[in-house]
Amino acid sequence: MNKTGFIFDLDGVIVDTAKYHYLAWKNLAQELGFEFTHEQNELFKGVSRKRCLEILLDIGGITATQEQFDSWMIEKNEDYLKYIEKMDETEILPDVPKVLEYVKRHEMPIALGSASKNARPILEKVKLLSYFETIVDGNNVTKAKPDPEVFLIAAEQLGVRADQCVVFEDAQAGIAAANSADMISIGIGDAQVLSEADYNFKDFTEIDDGFLKKLIKQE
Ligand code: BG6
Ligand code: MG
Repeated sequence: MNKTGFIFDLDGVIVDTAKYHYLAWKNLAQELGFEFTHEQNELFKGVSRKRCLEILLDIGGITATQEQFDSWMIEKNEDYLKYIEKMDETEILPDVPKVLEYVKRHEMPIALGSASKNARPILEKVKLLSYFETIVDGNNVTKAKPDPEVFLIAAEQLGVRADQCVVFEDAQAGIAAANSADMISIGIGDAQVLSEADYNFKDFTEIDDGFLKKLIKQE
């Protein structure tokens, strides 16, 4: 039987770090003198740190020197890492281990496909690192989602054809990336926001063994 490659995004899929990214950007916006809303934060999901800062400064109508830009990038990340430091297994999103266990038990290869440069330490903190055969993250790509690069590298490293991979994503940019890689895209979160996904689930509690079995049996 052909293998199905399972590729998981990290932030907002495996752990709810999207809220910490939001808080850190919100803190920076506040310091720069403007508000950053939840709705605006939707645009930041799946998007690289650098691109997020560009969008944030656009929202605030701020023009930065290169020096300011670089120092705000560092400041945001340091603030974000303060939230991350305290993370443990309790912050794994509901039923994620159940799905990882099922996939592992059926001997299907698992990859991480994330835009984050902090992916590995986060997986270590929540003790899920051992499930992943390969980690492809913000340190390994040159083109950010919605470019499919991150998922194509993951498929290659798993030794599975792109059209035999499934991707779990909470970001519009991530669903677009999976679709353009010709992979099955599974939206985790708000189905209206992720309307381009092949399948939608509010969270992993809605995913049962029957669905996973179907993914493994795909042609
Ligand atoms: C993505 C998040 O997973 O990683 C984005 O959805 C974030 O919001 C991006 O900007 C980069 O993360 P980091 O940890 O490298 O700043
Ligand atoms: Mg995400």
